[in-house]
Amino acid sequence: MIDIRPATETDAAILSDLNREVQALHYEALPWRFKAPSPEQFSLGEVKRLLSNGNNVILIAKVDGAPVGYILYEIVREGETAFKHAYDVVYVHQIAVRVGARRRGVGRALIDAARQAGLALGIARVALDFLSFNDEARAFYKRLGFAPDKERWWTS
Ligand SMILES: CC(C)(COP(=O)(O)OP(=O)(O)OC[C@H]1O[C@@H](n2cnc3c(N)ncnc32)[C@H](O)[C@@H]1OP(=O)(O)O)[C@@H](O)C(=O)NCCC(=O)NCCS
Repeated sequence: MIDIRPATETDAAILSDLNREVQALHYEALPWRFKAPSPEQFSLGEVKRLLSNGNNVILIAKVDGAPVGYILYEIVREGETAFKHAYDVVYVHQIAVRVGARRRGVGRALIDAARQAGLALGIARVALDFLSFNDEARAFYKRLGFAPDKERWWTS
């Protein structure tokens, strides 16, 4: 059974540990941009800073009492401009499931929890981004019904 609960600052060490594999994935692919995994990610101060913004939510998923994944999302409320209508969206900044716990529905349960939290606030849409090399993330999000709406390109 997958148990999903909001994280607090007391979960900083757990989050730091859960982040390590995805941090390594990003660091190995883009070392000029991503830092090597270290306790710096989700340090107590960092978790306090994230949660001091009331629009940020971190959820931790546990299976048999053991933490196996987390999601960090933000309730984003975009105001109207001359170019765009106002819109609200649940924006997923980070999601990761431990390698040994993947393909058992934990990632889907975390996205569903964020989606349900959005719906409870009257927010219908969930958005996110991921790095283009990450074929596993692409397959996962596609399976969950997400589709791309823009591409960001860089010079090399
Ligand atoms: C992406 C990630 C969160 C998916 O978590 P997960 O717990 O393995 O996903 P689920 O088991 O809930 O899978 C949900 C659906 O996506 C599919 N899926 C998941 N990973 C997949 C993959 N690598 N290839 C193809 N399909 C995949 C599953 O088959 C499942 O479909 P089903 O319910 O119809 O069987 C996990 O692979 C991960 O942590 N990756 C590293 C971090 C990362 O890339 N984060 C996202 C970008 S920052």
